[in-house]
Amino acid sequence: MVNYHQIIVSVSLVLVLLTKEGTSQLSDKLNVQNSCVSKTTCRECIQTKNCAWCLQPDFGDKPRCFQPSLTPFAGSCSEEWTWNPDNEQKIVFNRELTRAGSASGGSSASGGYEGSYSSSSSSSSSSSSSHSFGASGSYGASGSYGASGQQSIVQISPQRVGLKLRINEEHRLHMRYSQAEDYPVDLYYLMDLSKSMEDDKEKLSKLGDLLSDTMRNITNNFRLGFGSFVDKVLMPYVSTVPKKLVNPCEKCEAPYGFKNHMTLSTNTTLFSEEVRRAAVSGNLDAPEGGFDAIMQAVVCRNQIGWREQARRLLVFSTDAGFHYAGDGKLGGVVTPNDGHCHLDSRGLYTHSTLQDYPSISQVNLKVKQNAINVIFAVTSSQSKVYEKLSTHVEGSSSAILSEDSSNVVELVRDEYSKISSSVEMKDNATSAVKITYSSSCLGNGPPIQTNKCDGLKVGDVVSFTAEIVVTSCPQNEKDWNQIFQIYPVGINESLIVDLEMLCSCPCENPNHSGFEANSPKCKGFGSYKCGICECDEFHFGPNCECSVSDIHSEVSMSRQCRPDNTSVIDCNGRGTCVCGICECEKRPHPEEVISGKFCECDNFSCDRHNGLLCSGPDHGTCSCGECICQPGWIGDACDCRATNETCKPPGGGEICSGHGTCECGACRCDVTPDGRFSGRYCEKCPTCSGRCHELKDCVQCQMYKTGPLAESDLCTKTCTKFVPIEVDVVVADEEKDEHLCTFYDEDDCKFQFVYTDHVEDEQVDVRAKKTRECPPKVFMIGIVFGVIAFIVLIGLAILLLWKLLTTIHDRREFARFEKERMMAKWDTGENPIYKQATSTFKNPTYAGK
Ligand SMILES: *[C@@H]1O[C@H](CO)[C@@H](O)[C@H](O)[C@H]1NC(C)=O
Ligand SMILES: *[C@@H]1O[C@H](CO)[C@@H](O)[C@H](O)[C@H]1NC(C)=O
Ligand SMILES: *[C@@H]1O[C@H](CO)[C@@H](O)[C@H](O)[C@H]1NC(C)=O
Ligand SMILES: *[C@@H]1O[C@H](CO)[C@@H](O)[C@H](O)[C@H]1NC(C)=O
Ligand SMILES: *[C@@H]1O[C@H](CO)[C@@H](O)[C@H](O)[C@H]1NC(C)=O
Ligand SMILES: *[C@@H]1O[C@H](CO)[C@@H](O)[C@H](O)[C@H]1NC(C)=O
Ligand SMILES: *[C@@H]1O[C@H](CO)[C@@H](O)[C@H](O)[C@H]1NC(C)=O
Ligand SMILES: *[C@@H]1O[C@H](CO)[C@@H](O)[C@H](O)[C@H]1NC(C)=O
Repeated sequence: MVNYHQIIVSVSLVLVLLTKEGTSQLSDKLNVQNSCVSKTTCRECIQTKNCAWCLQPDFGDKPRCFQPSLTPFAGSCSEEWTWNPDNEQKIVFNRELTRAGSASGGSSASGGYEGSYSSSSSSSSSSSSSHSFGASGSYGASGSYGASGQQSIVQISPQRVGLKLRINEEHRLHMRYSQAEDYPVDLYYLMDLSKSMEDDKEKLSKLGDLLSDTMRNITNNFRLGFGSFVDKVLMPYVSTVPKKLVNPCEKCEAPYGFKNHMTLSTNTTLFSEEVRRAAVSGNLDAPEGGFDAIMQAVVCRNQIGWREQARRLLVFSTDAGFHYAGDGKLGGVVTPNDGHCHLDSRGLYTHSTLQDYPSISQVNLKVKQNAINVIFAVTSSQSKVYEKLSTHVEGSSSAILSEDSSNVVELVRDEYSKISSSVEMKDNATSAVKITYSSSCLGNGPPIQTNKCDGLKVGDVVSFTAEIVVTSCPQNEKDWNQIFQIYPVGINESLIVDLEMLCSCPCENPNHSGFEANSPKCKGFGSYKCGICECDEFHFGPNCECSVSDIHSEVSMSRQCRPDNTSVIDCNGRGTCVCGICECEKRPHPEEVISGKFCECDNFSCDRHNGLLCSGPDHGTCSCGECICQPGWIGDACDCRATNETCKPPGGGEICSGHGTCECGACRCDVTPDGRFSGRYCEKCPTCSGRCHELKDCVQCQMYKTGPLAESDLCTKTCTKFVPIEVDVVVADEEKDEHLCTFYDEDDCKFQFVYTDHVEDEQVDVRAKKTRECPPKVFMIGIVFGVIAFIVLIGLAILLLWKLLTTIHDRREFARFEKERMMAKWDTGENPIYKQATSTFKNPTYAGK
């Protein structure tokens, strides 16, 4: 039995789970549907994923925002009236990546580099750019690039893309990156020239040629520059004692903030010479003004001579820490750094004592804007600090310089190859646009989410996929069109994306053909656009039919939507109050309708019988919570026949034998002080005893062979009216007028039977329980004797125990007495408690003299 139950429970559990699964999927679908349906303007609709707007006039009450992929709504709006733009991509510029060798071919032909890059490259472009121009010929803009010639190297493709994106619908943009061979390299060496760096300077000037040769081995197109810095010429950074200002230390020159000694050039002889000529200077505090120098070296593009298209390396070498924004206040400089170039004709920083040091983020911003790779070449004691700093400056790295800068060549070579062998994609999109990058880098595997690839060699092509999602429409409509760039860090090339967010509908534009200002469709109080009315500020309602002046306040308007002043919700909570009139909710099931002035009625919440509303349509219909029955039916759920015929006894007579009322086709019998009438037709009086006693003896003898009739043949003679039917369980069915009789016989056994009178004849039907229920036989005398014997035994045991204990005790006492008697052997002349009358004491401090 239990197992059976468990099985049923588990089966039904599985069923419940299954149906839950099914309904949750369905409800998911419905939710998407609903998220569309609830949008009331084209703009809101189009900003919701997967929704489309129907512009069709005379569309009725149906929701205009719908999900085209769901069938029930797909047919209702014709294609031409549906506004459902998709993501769109248009490639504006897509010049081929510069292949390995094509750039070098031009440069080697020009035979080494003299002067500026632009002059030499324009000559090289005649040969090298022919290939790329061929590819870009279809773009009108390529001509303008041709003039400068500097666009001949292309490392990222495509270069410009136009996108139109829906909100929250992702778009995948593919791009490729390849490092060109002989890509120009600009290296500016920025050196701390405080006294402690003297030996480094000597070394650098010796290594200048080697540095340039090594780099030229990597790229043909290499330029070198040199600058130095000390610190702001102010207390407490530098001693301002007049003598010290001129000559701060032995063989030192006057201190300065930053000086550009040599703009980027190919003349390495000049580099060595400039480094040698630069004089060291002295300062007081340990940190130096390196940030001022980095800022100037980065932003002074013309003075430093950074080329537009080149890998730009800024090697920053020092053996000390740095001052940063706020430190200037120590010297009384409060103006923040403005991030502009302030170099005079001699290359000296003019605003050193006028502006504070830049902050780390200012440095980062300018480094980013100018696509410069900063290499912090610092002594080991400072490397921890600069390593941390490099994580905050985009594209920078830090490396350990030996005490005398002897490893500077390897350092630069290693850092350069580290920088150039990796590519990292970044962008400057606003927060409304989310971009995630993925690439399989050089491998063949599936793309993984990363924006960085390492281990690239010249000529390797890496594909990136940017997944672009517009997460929300910015508040400001101007931001709906924006331009952002995706760029490889440290390279002045980028993929420019012109992004148009599809946040609004063209039909909302006054020059759209469907747009009607002050349209008669909106009673002249609003503009008709995208199929709906947008009312002026004094009107509302679907067709602007409600006026603010009619309904003075929201309170009075609400009042019209409430049945009386005691209710606190409009339209009974089942509708919305629109200009004083209730608009009742629509039910998901079309058969179910809410109606009434205050939405107080519906035709689905009437009484049910057997699960059918008003017992089904052929019995009655539901109206405003009450069943309206068809003729022939009555009752709350129209489940009763409206006739009294079924209450009349078969032989004819009064309804319910005159002892009851006919309700719902059945008798409800009267209750008298003696009890209730019973029987189907209330024909049995409460005082008339049943026939239990009459039948008892016969049942007893026929079923169990006991009772007064059991002897001889009395049973067969007397009991002729019925033969009881054996059953296991006897239950009386009141409906069938059965009566239950229960008796106890002389053996105290319970027996039960049920009888039914036949109204027509004298016969009775009897069902009796197969076996009597006898109480288990108990051996009473045994129990009584057992209890008595038990009590006697316990008494005896206690007596014995007591006797035993007293005997032991007595024996012990006697033994002790005997022992003491043996011991008592003192001299009878001496009383043991006698004490002498005199006592002698000795003074312990008394030495006996
Ligand atoms: C440049 O490369 C050549 C050949 O690869 C090599 O012999 C030479 O030593 C390199 N020069 C430098 C300065 O590394
Ligand atoms: C390089 O600079 C040195 C020193 O200023 C100068 O003598 C030499 O002519 C320059 N060489 C070139 C090729 O310009
Ligand atoms: C990057 O290159 C573009 C031309 O391609 C140029 O207009 C721009 O000034 C360059 N940016 C920097 C920081 O050099
Ligand atoms: C991203 O940078 C480009 C070039 O510097 C600039 O034109 C654009 O406005 C920037 N975009 C954003 C969203 O800041
Ligand atoms: C409609 O006006 C918008 C600006 O309000 C303009 O961009 C668009 O080109 C105009 N379209 C037509 C068809 O005039
Ligand atoms: C409701 O209206 C009745 C008469 O219209 C008024 O007597 C009663 O004070 C009102 N109750 C409230 C709560 O406004
Ligand atoms: C409720 O009323 C609507 C419209 O009167 C009808 O179409 C629908 O069948 C009714 N539903 C029921 C259950 O009677
Ligand atoms: C049925 O009997 C009840 C009283 O029991 C009476 O009120 C009712 O009118 C009768 N109905 C018919 C249809 O005779």
